[in-house]
Amino acid sequence: MRDRPPWVDVAESYEAMSQRAAERWIACAAEAMDQRGRFTVAVSGGSTPRRLYEILASPEDQARMDWTRTDVFWTDERIVPADDPDSNYRLVQTTLLAHVPIPSSNIHRVRTELGAAEAAEAYEREIRACFNIAVAQWPRFDLLILGVGEDGHTASLFPGSPALQERTRIAVATPHGSLPPSVDRVTLTLPVLNAARNAVFLASGAAKARILQGALGGDPTIPAALVRPTDGTLYWLLDTAAAGAGAGR
Ligand code: 6PG
Repeated sequence: MRDRPPWVDVAESYEAMSQRAAERWIACAAEAMDQRGRFTVAVSGGSTPRRLYEILASPEDQARMDWTRTDVFWTDERIVPADDPDSNYRLVQTTLLAHVPIPSSNIHRVRTELGAAEAAEAYEREIRACFNIAVAQWPRFDLLILGVGEDGHTASLFPGSPALQERTRIAVATPHGSLPPSVDRVTLTLPVLNAARNAVFLASGAAKARILQGALGGDPTIPAALVRPTDGTLYWLLDTAAAGAGAGR
C-alpha cells in the first residue's frame, strides 16, 4: 500500500473542476510522451467526465496533445451496443474522439457485441498486446479517469462484488450493481487500477458528499477507497458541493 495521502483539490464549480482535470490530463500526456514516447489513458463513463471530454475536444486543447501517440482504453463498459446511449464508448467517442485526430487503431473499446465474458477476455488480450506484457505482468496506465457512484463503486467494481477480489485477471465480467443501468459490465480489476502512474477521481454534486467522506477516510468497504496506486499519484478533483461545502451543480 502507498503511504502518501491522495491530493484533494476542491474547485468552485463543475466547470472549474473539469478545466482542472483537462490540465492534469494534458500534463500527464506531456510527461508520458516525453519519457516513454506514448500516452495510455483509461477513461470512465457516467455523467461526471462529460465536460472534461468536451474541453479536451476544443480546438485550443486539441492542439496541446499529440493524439497520434495516445492510446485510449476504458476503465469499464456496460454490455450494450456501441451506439446505445448507455455505452461508455459512445460517450467518449461522441464528446471527444470524433473531434480529435486519433487513429482508429489507438481506440481500444470493449467489444460488447461478444457478450460480457468473452468481451472481458478479448479486452484483456488487447491490453496485453498493446502494452506488450507477459502473463504475470500488469499494464501501467499513464492516467486513469475514474468516477464514484453514490454507492461507492468505481469503474464497475461494486461494493461486495467478487470482482474486487480478482488478483490475476486484467479485466473481468461482472453483473450490474444496485444503480442503473441494470446491465452486465466489464471492468478493469483493482491490481490494474493500483498499477497506474496517475489516477484522477472526479466527483461533482452534493449527492456524492456522503460517500466521498467515507472514501477519503479510507473505508475499506467502499470500492473507490481501494484505489491507491502503489507507485503512482492519486488525485481527487471535487467541486464544492461534492466536498460538502456548497450548492449542487
Ligand atoms: C459507469 C462508470 C462508473 C461511473 C460512476 C459515476 O460505467 O457507470 O464508469 O464507474 O464513473 O458510476 O457515475 P456518474 O459520473 O454518472 O455519477
